[in-house]
Amino acid sequence: MRIDIYTIFTPIFESPLREGLLGKAVRGGVLDVRVHDIRDHAEGKHRQVDDAPFGGGPGMVLKPEPVFAAVTSTLGYGMDELEKLKEKVRVIMLTPRGRRMDQAVVAELAAQPHIALICGRYEGVDERVTEHLCTDALSVGDYVLSGGEFAALVVVEAVTRLVPGVIGNEESLVEESFSRGLLEYPQYTRPAEYRGWRVPDVLTSGDHEAVERWRRERAEEFTRMKQPGPSLPGGGDDTR
Ligand code: ADE
Repeated sequence: MRIDIYTIFTPIFESPLREGLLGKAVRGGVLDVRVHDIRDHAEGKHRQVDDAPFGGGPGMVLKPEPVFAAVTSTLGYGMDELEKLKEKVRVIMLTPRGRRMDQAVVAELAAQPHIALICGRYEGVDERVTEHLCTDALSVGDYVLSGGEFAALVVVEAVTRLVPGVIGNEESLVEESFSRGLLEYPQYTRPAEYRGWRVPDVLTSGDHEAVERWRRERAEEFTRMKQPGPSLPGGGDDTR
């Protein structure tokens, strides 16, 4: 799977893409991640990427030209080929105003051969980018980050786990399909007793059926307890 990331803070992505499962997926070639500096595509001596908002107000807004230039040129499309580009690549703006990400959205993205993630910054991004360059707007939760970089990393991390060949552990995949739609059951390891806190007896009983039953029940209980509800004043919904 290919993922192109557009940002004005490329160093943020260095260690997350080098370590752990992501690093392994990148090195193994299962994941082709390319991080692009939007500033490299800005015009003029100062390579200005932002400007004051029309209508006044605080802060700066990311200009449209360098973002359009960055995405089209690095993906090999002309400015008159935006529709063709959008047919081939899911171009996603990270914004708290986007569709709220959940595991179903993650699965949908993991099935794409190629996605592009645009990290907003400052007080915003010129709306014409979202309107004419992007196919989607995505939020990682109902809270506001200073920019889309950490949101993009959340998307990459969640999506990568579902890309075939990444987890590489059949047990995990079987387990995942078994518990689809459920949260994880609690896990314990040695020692069986720590500071007087004992591991549930069923887990050390050797009775595999009882263990399976107990895990399923705990997973259902956790899932019931954590059902997402409206988290915003006035009620959150999926379209924000
Ligand atoms: N940028 C700022 N806040 C964000 C959020 N919650 N999700 C995605 N992108 C963002």
